[in-house]
Amino acid sequence: MALENDLERAGGCLIEHRQVVPPTIHRIDGAVPMTEEWIVETHDLVKKYGEHLALDGINLAVRPGATGLLGPNGAGKSTLLKTILGLIALTSGGGKVLGHDIATEGAKIRQRIGYMPEYDCLIPEMEAIHQVRYAGELLGMNSISAVQRAHEVLEYVGLRDQRYRTVSTFSTGMEQATKLACSLIHDPDLLLCDEPTNGLDSNARGFMLDTLFQVVKQGGRSIIMSSHLMDDVERICDRMLMIHKGQVIAQGRIEDLKAIDREIEISVWGGASRIEEKLKDMGQSVRRTGRVMRITRIDDSTYGTIIKAAAETSVQIRKMEDYEPSLEDLFIVIMDRLGYSVKSSKDLLGGNTPTMDHAAQLGRKVA
Ligand SMILES: Nc1ncnc2c1ncn2[C@@H]1O[C@H](COP(=O)(O)OP(=O)(O)O)[C@@H](O)[C@H]1O
Ligand SMILES: [Mg+2]
Repeated sequence: MALENDLERAGGCLIEHRQVVPPTIHRIDGAVPMTEEWIVETHDLVKKYGEHLALDGINLAVRPGATGLLGPNGAGKSTLLKTILGLIALTSGGGKVLGHDIATEGAKIRQRIGYMPEYDCLIPEMEAIHQVRYAGELLGMNSISAVQRAHEVLEYVGLRDQRYRTVSTFSTGMEQATKLACSLIHDPDLLLCDEPTNGLDSNARGFMLDTLFQVVKQGGRSIIMSSHLMDDVERICDRMLMIHKGQVIAQGRIEDLKAIDREIEISVWGGASRIEEKLKDMGQSVRRTGRVMRITRIDDSTYGTIIKAAAETSVQIRKMEDYEPSLEDLFIVIMDRLGYSVKSSKDLLGGNTPTMDHAAQLGRKVA
């Protein structure tokens, strides 16, 4: 019993079943792999709630694969996902999802999309197996195939032994896993996951991310996943889409976007402030933390400039290498270019209001 409680606290029974989870979630017989070049294309998508502008002219071109949807609270992430689902009426603009029109073909889109909403959507008094079966029936599956598939997807998300428990007895990790099972019941080509790791501890979060990764990599599906955690997106997504105040501020392959600001990292001994000042006098952009500093790499001559600065200030360089930026670094650069002073993504994505240095720059597109 104690062990079971521990496993639940760890976000599920999920961990216990890791070895027996099948390596892939089977495609339903006859499912045709996606052929679309763009899974989502939109033009000037506008959504107003009354006078409030939630989406302000969104232009997207999303390729198949795993795309992270990033942005602060209130940026419009959930609204955008519901728009892609064809669930909410647009104010203006339009687009296509998997080749279907957002405005007029919502039902067709939903046949091919699995949606894991941000907030509670489960019926507490229902057993997990019936909750998932019911999700399939709502999408038009007959009862027999919906039940068969419900067993398969619940096992896949690590809830095999909890199938007959009511959802009200579940931990947050198990609820999230049930939501994922509901979204996979009809074998969708595209998964939309709204903050799938929200409220999960690190074990449950790891399992959820691993499962989503498998769903995409082994099943040939695509995913658009919103998150306020850079690590989550970096772990499973090769592309990202960043929105802010209802506008796209960056989109594309994460590797390509990182190339917008290459840096050289040096570690120095004796006189870090001196060499920092010298480099700045020489027109270099420097970010310093103690004895480690990163200098924007303009071209190959930047290495020579750094060595010259060290010689002229009698500072020893202990290490010099090209810096491999993380998604976190990319986020800070993008926000910096928009005029925001943020030290970490948590300043902004955690829901705090950042300070703006140059309000006039707001709205400038990075990619
Ligand atoms: N149903 C609604 N009615 C009115 N305003 C809404 C509604 N849903 C969202 N909003 C507003 O639209 C903006 C975008 O919300 P949302 O898409 O939920 O952002 P995010 O998911 O990025 O936090 C927010 O300012 C929010 O308050
Ligand atoms: Mg949201």
